[in-house]
Amino acid sequence: MTVSYDSLLPCQSLRVAIMGAGNVGRTLAQRIIEKNLANVVLLDVIEGLPQGVALDLMEAQGLEQHNCEVMGTTDYQETAGADIVVITAGRARTPGISRDDLLAINAKIVSEVAEKAFKHSPNAIFIVITNPLDVMTYLTQKVTGLPPQRVMGMAGVLDSSRLQTFLAMELGVSTANVTAMVLGGHGDLMVPLPAYCTVNGIPITQLLDSKTIDRLLERTRNGGAEVVKLLKTGGAYYAPASSACIMIETILKNQSRLLPTAAYLQGEYGLNDIYIGVPCVLACGGVKEILEVKLTSQEQEALKISAASVRNNVNLALKSLEKN
Ligand code: LAC
Repeated sequence: MTVSYDSLLPCQSLRVAIMGAGNVGRTLAQRIIEKNLANVVLLDVIEGLPQGVALDLMEAQGLEQHNCEVMGTTDYQETAGADIVVITAGRARTPGISRDDLLAINAKIVSEVAEKAFKHSPNAIFIVITNPLDVMTYLTQKVTGLPPQRVMGMAGVLDSSRLQTFLAMELGVSTANVTAMVLGGHGDLMVPLPAYCTVNGIPITQLLDSKTIDRLLERTRNGGAEVVKLLKTGGAYYAPASSACIMIETILKNQSRLLPTAAYLQGEYGLNDIYIGVPCVLACGGVKEILEVKLTSQEQEALKISAASVRNNVNLALKSLEKN
Protein backbone atom coordinates (compact mmCIF):
# COMPACT_ATOMS: atom_id res chain seq x y z
CA MET A 1 0.00 0.00 0.00
CA THR A 2 1.26 3.44 -0.87
CA VAL A 3 -0.14 6.82 0.01
CA SER A 4 0.34 9.34 -2.75
CA TYR A 5 -0.16 13.10 -2.73
CA ASP A 6 0.02 13.79 -6.46
CA SER A 7 -2.67 16.44 -6.21
CA LEU A 8 -0.45 18.66 -4.04
CA LEU A 9 1.89 19.36 -6.96
CA PRO A 10 5.15 19.60 -5.06
CA CYS A 11 7.56 22.11 -6.58
CA GLN A 12 10.66 20.27 -5.38
CA SER A 13 12.26 17.76 -7.68
CA LEU A 14 15.02 16.50 -5.40
CA ARG A 15 14.30 13.20 -3.74
CA VAL A 16 15.64 11.61 -0.57
CA ALA A 17 14.71 8.01 0.19
CA ILE A 18 14.90 7.10 3.87
CA MET A 19 15.08 3.42 4.65
CA GLY A 20 13.49 2.80 8.03
CA ALA A 21 10.61 4.79 9.53
CA GLY A 22 11.77 4.49 13.13
CA ASN A 23 12.57 7.50 15.27
CA VAL A 24 15.67 8.53 13.32
CA GLY A 25 14.06 8.00 9.91
CA ARG A 26 10.89 9.88 10.68
CA THR A 27 12.65 12.74 12.48
CA LEU A 28 15.03 13.08 9.56
CA ALA A 29 12.07 13.17 7.17
CA GLN A 30 10.57 15.98 9.24
CA ARG A 31 13.82 17.97 9.25
CA ILE A 32 14.28 17.58 5.49
CA ILE A 33 10.80 18.71 4.52
CA GLU A 34 10.58 21.51 7.07
CA LYS A 35 13.84 22.89 5.68
CA ASN A 36 12.35 22.59 2.20
CA LEU A 37 15.29 20.52 1.03
CA ALA A 38 13.70 17.68 -0.91
CA ASN A 39 10.76 15.36 -1.29
CA VAL A 40 11.05 12.33 0.94
CA VAL A 41 10.09 8.71 0.45
CA LEU A 42 9.99 6.90 3.75
CA LEU A 43 10.23 3.12 3.52
CA ASP A 44 9.70 0.51 6.19
CA VAL A 45 8.86 -3.17 6.29
CA ILE A 46 5.96 -2.64 8.70
CA GLU A 47 2.85 -2.08 6.60
CA GLY A 48 1.07 1.10 7.61
CA LEU A 49 3.93 2.59 9.63
CA PRO A 50 5.67 4.64 6.91
CA GLN A 51 2.29 5.56 5.40
CA GLY A 52 1.00 6.73 8.77
CA VAL A 53 4.08 8.77 9.55
CA ALA A 54 4.05 10.32 6.07
CA LEU A 55 0.37 11.21 6.32
CA ASP A 56 0.88 12.79 9.74
CA LEU A 57 3.81 14.84 8.41
CA MET A 58 1.84 15.90 5.33
CA GLU A 59 -1.03 17.07 7.49
CA ALA A 60 1.34 19.62 9.00
CA GLN A 61 2.52 20.90 5.62
CA GLY A 62 0.21 23.90 5.58
CA LEU A 63 1.18 24.83 9.12
CA GLU A 64 4.90 24.45 8.59
CA GLN A 65 4.62 26.09 5.19
CA HIS A 66 6.99 23.96 3.23
CA ASN A 67 6.54 22.64 -0.27
CA CYS A 68 7.91 19.16 0.12
CA GLU A 69 6.05 15.92 -0.23
CA VAL A 70 6.53 12.90 2.02
CA MET A 71 5.37 9.54 0.87
CA GLY A 72 5.32 6.38 2.94
CA THR A 73 5.75 2.96 1.39
CA THR A 74 6.79 -0.64 1.89
CA ASP A 75 7.65 -0.98 -1.80
CA TYR A 76 11.22 -0.31 -2.94
CA GLN A 77 9.99 0.62 -6.40
CA GLU A 78 8.51 3.76 -4.90
CA THR A 79 11.98 4.89 -3.84
CA ALA A 80 13.26 4.82 -7.43
CA GLY A 81 15.34 7.70 -8.69
CA ALA A 82 16.38 9.02 -5.28
CA ASP A 83 19.23 11.54 -5.24
CA ILE A 84 20.17 10.44 -1.74
CA VAL A 85 19.39 7.17 0.02
CA VAL A 86 19.65 7.20 3.79
CA ILE A 87 19.85 3.88 5.62
CA THR A 88 18.52 3.97 9.17
CA ALA A 89 17.02 0.46 9.12
CA GLY A 90 18.19 -1.96 11.75
CA ARG A 91 17.83 -2.86 15.40
CA ALA A 92 18.23 0.12 17.69
CA ARG A 93 20.38 0.22 20.76
CA THR A 94 18.68 -0.56 24.04
CA PRO A 95 20.26 -0.27 27.50
CA GLY A 96 23.11 -2.70 27.97
CA ILE A 97 23.46 -3.37 24.24
CA SER A 98 26.54 -1.81 22.72
CA ARG A 99 26.65 -0.64 19.13
CA ASP A 100 28.85 -3.61 18.33
CA ASP A 101 26.37 -6.15 19.74
CA LEU A 102 24.09 -5.18 16.91
CA LEU A 103 26.66 -6.30 14.39
CA ALA A 104 25.35 -9.54 12.92
CA ILE A 105 21.68 -8.66 12.89
CA ASN A 106 22.19 -5.23 11.37
CA ALA A 107 24.76 -6.52 8.86
CA LYS A 108 22.04 -8.70 7.39
CA ILE A 109 19.39 -5.97 7.40
CA VAL A 110 21.65 -3.25 5.98
CA SER A 111 23.08 -5.44 3.19
CA GLU A 112 19.60 -6.39 2.05
CA VAL A 113 18.27 -2.85 2.27
CA ALA A 114 21.31 -1.39 0.47
CA GLU A 115 21.06 -3.92 -2.32
CA LYS A 116 17.37 -3.30 -2.92
CA ALA A 117 17.64 0.48 -2.65
CA PHE A 118 20.60 0.55 -5.04
CA LYS A 119 18.64 -1.44 -7.63
CA HIS A 120 16.11 1.36 -7.84
CA SER A 121 18.44 4.35 -7.31
CA PRO A 122 21.78 3.41 -8.90
CA ASN A 123 22.85 7.06 -9.14
CA ALA A 124 22.13 7.97 -5.53
CA ILE A 125 24.55 8.98 -2.83
CA PHE A 126 24.18 6.67 0.16
CA ILE A 127 24.37 7.93 3.75
CA VAL A 128 24.39 5.24 6.42
CA ILE A 129 23.20 5.82 9.99
CA THR A 130 22.64 2.27 11.23
CA ASN A 131 25.07 1.03 13.90
CA PRO A 132 27.74 -0.09 14.16
CA LEU A 133 28.12 2.79 11.80
CA ASP A 134 31.53 2.38 10.21
CA VAL A 135 30.96 -1.32 9.55
CA MET A 136 27.50 -0.79 8.05
CA THR A 137 28.88 1.92 5.78
CA TYR A 138 31.61 -0.44 4.59
CA LEU A 139 29.02 -3.15 3.84
CA THR A 140 26.84 -0.68 1.96
CA GLN A 141 29.72 0.27 -0.33
CA LYS A 142 30.60 -3.38 -0.93
CA VAL A 143 27.01 -4.41 -1.63
CA THR A 144 26.27 -1.51 -3.97
CA GLY A 145 29.68 -1.40 -5.62
CA LEU A 146 29.28 2.37 -5.81
CA PRO A 147 32.38 4.58 -6.04
CA PRO A 148 33.44 5.05 -2.39
CA GLN A 149 32.95 8.82 -2.52
CA ARG A 150 29.22 8.19 -3.07
CA VAL A 151 28.85 6.14 0.13
CA MET A 152 29.42 7.67 3.56
CA GLY A 153 28.45 7.28 7.18
CA MET A 154 26.93 9.79 9.57
CA ALA A 155 28.61 9.88 12.94
CA GLY A 156 31.36 12.48 13.10
CA VAL A 157 28.86 15.32 12.77
CA LEU A 158 26.84 13.87 15.65
CA ASP A 159 29.83 13.18 17.89
CA SER A 160 31.24 16.64 17.15
CA SER A 161 27.87 18.25 17.81
CA ARG A 162 27.69 16.54 21.19
CA LEU A 163 31.15 17.81 22.10
CA GLN A 164 30.22 21.28 20.83
CA THR A 165 27.17 21.22 23.11
CA PHE A 166 29.09 20.06 26.18
CA LEU A 167 31.79 22.68 25.60
CA ALA A 168 29.22 25.46 25.22
CA MET A 169 27.40 24.31 28.36
CA GLU A 170 30.64 24.17 30.35
CA LEU A 171 31.84 27.58 29.21
CA GLY A 172 28.44 29.29 29.27
CA VAL A 173 28.79 30.47 25.69
CA SER A 174 26.62 30.03 22.61
CA THR A 175 27.03 26.80 20.68
CA ALA A 176 27.23 29.05 17.62
CA ASN A 177 30.67 30.14 18.84
CA VAL A 178 31.98 26.63 19.44
CA THR A 179 33.48 24.34 16.84
CA ALA A 180 34.42 20.79 17.70
CA MET A 181 36.01 17.97 15.76
CA VAL A 182 35.69 14.28 16.55
CA LEU A 183 37.22 11.62 14.31
CA GLY A 184 37.55 7.84 14.35
CA GLY A 185 35.00 5.09 14.55
CA HIS A 186 31.58 5.87 15.98
CA GLY A 187 31.98 4.02 19.25
CA ASP A 188 33.75 4.08 22.54
CA LEU A 189 37.05 4.44 20.66
CA MET A 190 36.15 7.65 18.83
CA VAL A 191 38.95 10.22 18.66
CA PRO A 192 38.02 13.76 19.77
CA LEU A 193 40.58 16.38 18.73
CA PRO A 194 40.75 19.06 21.45
CA ALA A 195 43.41 20.99 19.51
CA TYR A 196 40.81 21.57 16.78
CA CYS A 197 38.04 22.63 19.17
CA THR A 198 37.68 26.37 19.49
CA VAL A 199 35.48 29.10 20.86
CA ASN A 200 35.33 31.66 18.08
CA GLY A 201 38.86 30.68 17.07
CA ILE A 202 40.29 30.45 20.60
CA PRO A 203 41.54 26.90 21.28
CA ILE A 204 39.64 25.35 24.19
CA THR A 205 42.99 24.37 25.68
CA GLN A 206 43.35 28.07 26.58
CA LEU A 207 39.96 28.22 28.25
CA LEU A 208 39.62 24.93 30.11
CA ASP A 209 42.03 22.83 32.17
CA SER A 210 42.93 19.38 30.90
CA LYS A 211 40.89 17.61 33.57
CA THR A 212 37.73 19.41 32.48
CA ILE A 213 38.48 18.78 28.81
CA ASP A 214 39.00 15.07 29.53
CA ARG A 215 35.67 14.92 31.34
CA LEU A 216 33.85 16.49 28.38
CA LEU A 217 35.62 14.20 25.91
CA GLU A 218 34.56 11.20 27.98
CA ARG A 219 30.98 12.42 28.07
CA THR A 220 31.14 12.76 24.27
CA ARG A 221 32.41 9.19 23.90
CA ASN A 222 29.43 8.04 25.97
CA GLY A 223 27.05 10.52 24.34
CA GLY A 224 24.90 7.88 22.66
CA ALA A 225 24.85 5.58 25.68
CA GLU A 226 23.92 8.45 28.02
CA VAL A 227 20.76 9.10 26.01
CA VAL A 228 19.96 5.37 25.74
CA LYS A 229 20.26 5.05 29.51
CA LEU A 230 17.82 7.91 30.08
CA LEU A 231 15.29 6.90 27.44
CA LYS A 232 15.43 3.21 28.39
CA THR A 233 13.46 2.23 25.28
CA GLY A 234 15.84 3.18 22.47
CA GLY A 235 18.54 5.48 21.26
CA ALA A 236 18.96 9.14 20.44
CA TYR A 237 17.24 10.48 17.35
CA TYR A 238 16.90 14.27 17.37
CA ALA A 239 20.63 15.01 17.16
CA PRO A 240 21.31 12.06 14.83
CA ALA A 241 18.57 13.30 12.48
CA SER A 242 19.91 16.87 12.57
CA SER A 243 23.40 15.57 11.83
CA ALA A 244 22.27 13.58 8.80
CA CYS A 245 20.19 16.54 7.63
CA ILE A 246 23.25 18.83 7.60
CA MET A 247 25.09 16.30 5.43
CA ILE A 248 22.10 16.02 3.08
CA GLU A 249 21.74 19.79 2.80
CA THR A 250 25.46 20.15 2.09
CA ILE A 251 25.27 17.58 -0.70
CA LEU A 252 22.01 18.73 -2.27
CA LYS A 253 23.11 22.38 -2.24
CA ASN A 254 26.67 21.55 -3.29
CA GLN A 255 27.97 23.58 -0.35
CA SER A 256 31.44 22.05 0.11
CA ARG A 257 31.17 22.17 3.90
CA LEU A 258 33.90 20.53 5.93
CA LEU A 259 32.19 17.85 8.01
CA PRO A 260 33.61 14.89 9.90
CA THR A 261 32.28 11.93 7.95
CA ALA A 262 32.82 8.18 7.88
CA ALA A 263 34.64 7.96 4.53
CA TYR A 264 36.53 5.27 2.66
CA LEU A 265 40.26 5.58 3.24
CA GLN A 266 42.84 4.54 0.68
CA GLY A 267 46.07 5.43 2.39
CA GLU A 268 44.93 8.58 4.20
CA TYR A 269 46.01 8.58 7.85
CA GLY A 270 48.00 5.45 7.05
CA LEU A 271 44.78 3.43 6.72
CA ASN A 272 43.50 1.39 3.82
CA ASP A 273 40.23 -0.25 2.76
CA ILE A 274 38.29 0.99 5.75
CA TYR A 275 35.45 3.40 6.54
CA ILE A 276 36.17 5.64 9.50
CA GLY A 277 35.43 9.20 10.61
CA VAL A 278 37.75 11.81 9.06
CA PRO A 279 37.34 15.47 8.07
CA CYS A 280 35.72 15.56 4.63
CA VAL A 281 34.50 18.20 2.24
CA LEU A 282 31.03 17.18 1.12
CA ALA A 283 29.51 18.43 -2.12
CA CYS A 284 27.10 17.30 -4.84
CA GLY A 285 29.18 14.27 -5.81
CA GLY A 286 29.49 13.06 -2.22
CA VAL A 287 32.88 13.10 -0.51
CA LYS A 288 34.74 15.70 -2.58
CA GLU A 289 37.90 15.59 -0.51
CA ILE A 290 39.35 13.89 2.56
CA LEU A 291 41.52 16.25 4.57
CA GLU A 292 44.56 14.89 6.34
CA VAL A 293 45.02 17.11 9.38
CA LYS A 294 47.98 16.93 11.69
CA LEU A 295 47.41 14.64 14.67
CA THR A 296 49.46 14.24 17.81
CA SER A 297 51.16 10.86 18.10
CA GLN A 298 48.61 9.99 20.79
CA GLU A 299 45.70 10.83 18.50
CA GLN A 300 47.32 8.96 15.62
CA GLU A 301 47.62 5.93 17.88
CA ALA A 302 44.00 6.29 19.05
CA LEU A 303 42.84 6.43 15.43
CA LYS A 304 44.83 3.27 14.68
CA ILE A 305 43.22 1.46 17.62
CA SER A 306 39.76 2.67 16.58
CA ALA A 307 40.41 1.51 13.00
CA ALA A 308 41.59 -1.90 14.20
CA SER A 309 38.33 -2.34 16.10
CA VAL A 310 36.29 -1.32 13.03
CA ARG A 311 38.28 -3.71 10.85
CA ASN A 312 37.75 -6.55 13.29
CA ASN A 313 34.02 -5.91 13.23
CA VAL A 314 33.97 -5.69 9.43
CA ASN A 315 35.53 -9.16 9.31
CA LEU A 316 33.01 -10.50 11.84
CA ALA A 317 30.14 -8.97 9.87
CA LEU A 318 31.38 -10.43 6.58
CA LYS A 319 31.70 -13.83 8.24
CA SER A 320 28.19 -13.63 9.68
CA LEU A 321 26.84 -12.76 6.23
CA GLU A 322 28.63 -15.73 4.65
CA LYS A 323 26.96 -18.05 7.16
CA ASN A 324 23.48 -16.78 6.28
C1 LAC B 1 24.10 7.60 18.94
C2 LAC B 1 23.66 6.59 17.95
C3 LAC B 1 22.83 7.20 16.87
O1 LAC B 1 25.32 7.84 19.04
O2 LAC B 1 24.73 5.91 17.43
O3 LAC B 1 23.26 8.16 19.62
